[in-house]
Amino acid sequence: MFKGGIQATHDAAAAVSKLLKPGMIVSLVGDLGAGKTTLVSAIAASLKSEHPVSSPTFTVIHEVPTPTLMLCHIDAYRCSSRDVLNLGLDDYLNDGYVLLIEWLEMFADAGPLPDITVTLLEDDSDPDVRTITVDGNGDLS
Ligand SMILES: Nc1ncnc2c1ncn2[C@@H]1O[C@H](COP(=O)(O)OP(=O)(O)O)[C@@H](O)[C@H]1O
Ligand SMILES: [Mg+2]
Repeated sequence: MFKGGIQATHDAAAAVSKLLKPGMIVSLVGDLGAGKTTLVSAIAASLKSEHPVSSPTFTVIHEVPTPTLMLCHIDAYRCSSRDVLNLGLDDYLNDGYVLLIEWLEMFADAGPLPDITVTLLEDDSDPDVRTITVDGNGDLS
């Protein structure tokens, strides 16, 4: 668990980066403004990407190349579970991308099962503090 200001987000991102392998699915869970996109940006930075990560709310999918892994950042906030079937996620997975998905819960039963779930919680007393937990599906060290 990571708790604190933006450094906690960077520490969580570094920890998540070390777990990533081609074809993995990472679910980012948290309210609007919890810091999901900020975390994706920090993961990309941790992997030394030179590509900026912005909020993909209106484009749904952004590809983020890094020297070692291809990332695919997805924000399904405005998707219906039917849209999700048309995103071609299987193609990305087959191509070895790591999927980093905000609002995977929008996919309902149509969605893929995440290998890693990162949960971001805002703090009642400090708007800059987040509590971040990283959960694997069992086989992550
Ligand atoms: N510790 C922190 N970690 C991440 N974001 C933080 C933190 N403290 C403040 N923030 C701010 O919270 C906002 C998070 O926005 P964003 O990452 O777009 O959230 P989401 O994608 O979950 O909607 C940003 O404005 C960011 O600067
Ligand atoms: Mg976002």
